[in-house]
Amino acid sequence: MTTKTNTPLAINVIAGKQYSWCTCGFSQNMPLCDNAHREFSTKKSYKFIAEETTQLYLCGCSETQTPPFCDNAKQCKTK
Ligand code: FES
Repeated sequence: MTTKTNTPLAINVIAGKQYSWCTCGFSQNMPLCDNAHREFSTKKSYKFIAEETTQLYLCGCSETQTPPFCDNAKQCKTK
């Protein structure tokens, strides 16, 4: 079952650490990948390295054109 949301989701990141943003919407740890895509989707996670230690708001609907960040398009409530 998809766990997509239509709001950005906050995560705390550490500078220099790699993160995997969920592109399939089936992760139980949104907005980060938990490898559920291996069973439910042909999509793969989008990997990025945090530039600084901070809190980021990542796309929760998996439809953004500017991964891993919300682009305020589609179904997002922040539009
Ligand atoms: S669980 Fe969605 S991309 Fe990995």
